[in-house]
Amino acid sequence: MKKLLVISLIVTVLFPLIAAAAAPALPKGYTGWKKSERKLVTDKSSLFYGIHYIYADKKALQGYKTGSKFPEGSTIVVDYFNIKAGSEADGPKNMVVMMRKDKRNKETGGWLFAGYGADGKPSGLDPVSTCFGCHQKDAGQRDFVISTVKDFKL
Ligand code: HEC
Repeated sequence: MKKLLVISLIVTVLFPLIAAAAAPALPKGYTGWKKSERKLVTDKSSLFYGIHYIYADKKALQGYKTGSKFPEGSTIVVDYFNIKAGSEADGPKNMVVMMRKDKRNKETGGWLFAGYGADGKPSGLDPVSTCFGCHQKDAGQRDFVISTVKDFKL
């Protein structure tokens, strides 16, 4: 009985803590990095309904230029916004996602995947079950990065 209690404690209390701890803080000043064009998705059935901007640091930009190999440490952040009612202007921010090339993340192609709320706090999404599937399917040959150099005005 005691054993069971310990196990359930680990599963319900510690695992989410570990998962949250695995998501690093969002990098300071990422909105000053190279910014993609504004991307508007008006299809309401899409998971990406809304407006988003992709930010790439210097290493990630090198990766975008080669198209298939991102150097260790490359970091890409995406800010998502709602669409303001009655217009196509940016509404409030609703989520942030990040990918950082970190070879320790073997299960997810050598990338750390992390999701955040609008407040920048980790949302504790599981990278393997929530993130990697799409990236593997859409960009398995492009180092799991779906957007391309064309999304940036380089
Ligand atoms: C339903 C499929 C899908 C899921 C699930 C998904 N993504 Fe993506 N992701 C995309 C697509 C499509 C793009 C490209 C968007 C664009 O080109 O504007 C993208 C782009 C990105 C980018 C910018 C770099 C790139 O690959 O273009 C990051 C960072 C990112 N996603 C992180 C995440 C994280 C973290 C999760 C899990 C919390 C996640 N994604 C889950 C489909 C998905």
